[in-house]
Amino acid sequence: ELLAPATGAFSGQQVVITAGPTREPIDPVRYLSNHSSGKMGYALARQAQRLGAQVTLITGPTQLTAPNGVKVVAVESAMEMLEAVEQEVNTAGIFIACAAVADYRLAQVESQKIKKGDENMQLQLVRNPDILATIASREQPPLCVGFAAETQNLASYAEDKLTRKKLALIAANDVSDRRIGFNSDENAMTLFWHNTQGELQQLPLERASKDQIAAAILHQLTALPEWKKR
Ligand code: CTP
Ligand code: CA
Repeated sequence: ELLAPATGAFSGQQVVITAGPTREPIDPVRYLSNHSSGKMGYALARQAQRLGAQVTLITGPTQLTAPNGVKVVAVESAMEMLEAVEQEVNTAGIFIACAAVADYRLAQVESQKIKKGDENMQLQLVRNPDILATIASREQPPLCVGFAAETQNLASYAEDKLTRKKLALIAANDVSDRRIGFNSDENAMTLFWHNTQGELQQLPLERASKDQIAAAILHQLTALPEWKKR
């Protein structure tokens, strides 16, 4: 059974959420992206707002409509998403990075459409900044929540991201299971965090609607030792 926070548990809280994919332009008509639908991030926005939070949703391109009353900032590339997050997160107590940010962008974006030529071509890519790690490594960071989409070694990769990115909580899911994740309305995840002794804790969330999963993530957030310390 999934737990959900009590009504008003987030009242007075400012929450910034990233959602959806990013698009990394190649030329005026092409881009690199991924299969993220944005549904999980929008569900988090909806649930946080329902619980009384003031929500800002920074979203890559999706087919979704944001919930009423949520401030929406629409972006395309990872660099635009980082800029928007840095603008919006300063007064927020909670940052939830749900977006599937492209890890790389084009080293050079062509100003004109690339013409077809040789049989083979190469695109040169450079690393994008890690938006979540950038915010979490601030001197006085908000409570940071991350996601980890993995196809193998779920627990060890998730713990590594939790520790390395200095997160309060990480929600990990197995994206090799095609019934859930990405464009699905359902999801199944395992939440990981550290207790006050620094021991890794985990909570599996059985397959459920993304709204139910979102509520359970927000519930776990309110149960963390860091939540009370703020
Ligand atoms: N993330 C981010 N900015 C990036 C890359 C990732 O904010 N440039 C955030 C995602 O929103 C997610 C978390 O970091 O909350 C983990 O993303 P994921 O792609 O699973 O991990 P990476 O650190 O990018 O590692 P890898 O893709 O190699 O597994
Ligand atoms: Ca990545």
